Amino acid sequence: MKVPFFDLSRQHRALASELEAAVRPVIESGAFILGPEVAAFETDFAAFCGCRHAVGVACGLDGIKLALRALDIGPGDEVITAANTFIATAFAISSAGATPVLVDIDPDTFNLDPAKAAAAVTPRTRALMPVHLYGQPAEMKPLLALARKKGLHVIEDASQAHGARYRGTRAGSLGAIGVFSFYPAKNLGAFGDGGLATTSDETLARKIATLRNYGSIVKYHHDLMGENSRLDTVQAAILRAKLRHLDAWNAARRRLAARYEELLRGAGDLVLPKPPPHLEHVYHLYVVRTRRRDALQKFLTEQGIGCMIHYPVPIHLQKAYQGHPWKPGQFPITEQFAGEILSLPLFPELTDSEQECVAETVGRFFR
Ligand SMILES: Cc1ncc(COP(=O)(O)O)c(C=O)c1O
Repeated sequence: MKVPFFDLSRQHRALASELEAAVRPVIESGAFILGPEVAAFETDFAAFCGCRHAVGVACGLDGIKLALRALDIGPGDEVITAANTFIATAFAISSAGATPVLVDIDPDTFNLDPAKAAAAVTPRTRALMPVHLYGQPAEMKPLLALARKKGLHVIEDASQAHGARYRGTRAGSLGAIGVFSFYPAKNLGAFGDGGLATTSDETLARKIATLRNYGSIVKYHHDLMGENSRLDTVQAAILRAKLRHLDAWNAARRRLAARYEELLRGAGDLVLPKPPPHLEHVYHLYVVRTRRRDALQKFLTEQGIGCMIHYPVPIHLQKAYQGHPWKPGQFPITEQFAGEILSLPLFPELTDSEQECVAETVGRFFR
């Protein structure tokens, strides 16, 4: 049996009529930029996260950039984030003009290590940017305490953690601003690019809403040097319809993760994700570790099982940051994990027999 790493068409087939019904009124209205459909999605998503405000933007990268700009973080400022994340987290900090300060990850959570973050604070640090990578919330309590003590802002990169909870509170409502990506493969994905920033601070929400729309709230009056980074109205209609299913999809992801835990336990040197109970993981990705990663990936691929590496080259070793004074070996856990991690197929529509086939093939590799 072949098992895809991810198959979005299953979700979309099941929702076809619902999504068509959501989009049709937008097409008929002829109004494709902002408007009531975007505002309605923002209201629904803010309520979902337990925040007062949400502002739709063009993508997650822009959401982080505009969050930084809204907090007046830019040239001369440092922002602390995790060494193990998707490149967009660092690029957004750099393109806001600030300096990304990477710190190594906690090997148990794969996320920003609070003690290392504390050690990286300098007089130029303005913000902490934990990333809830793979769908698992970062250890927020010590990070929030550190931010309070040092007078720093906390911006959550929740791009992979729609619906995840930290001690019962949704990702995106723990810091000053939370940012989400609606890249199609995300737990909540658009039919293209999309993103959103959450906050309970009305001034920040208004500033992000101004910045995303050419610095304008009142048409042709431009108060700030803004950008064109709006969430498309068609995407908002699709996302609003899909949001109603997100809790059920996340529950399905969690069930599949629990089943993998049963099926894969004891296979070779495989290390499985094991979030402590206060971190409600939503398994955007199911990431295992093994010293035999490359051989396992080759074997699974040959057997028709989709698998991927998130991410094979850590940020500090990327060509784009060649001029930056980071050195190989500086973030040893991130570097070790980059050689050991493998993401196995996990999406809500994965069937029991497909999952059993993945687990059986992994078991066969180790035998
Ligand atoms: C952790 C993280 N941050 C930021 C982003 C950027 O989101 P987008 O691709 O919507 O710009 C992503 C998207 O893949 C991500 O995974």
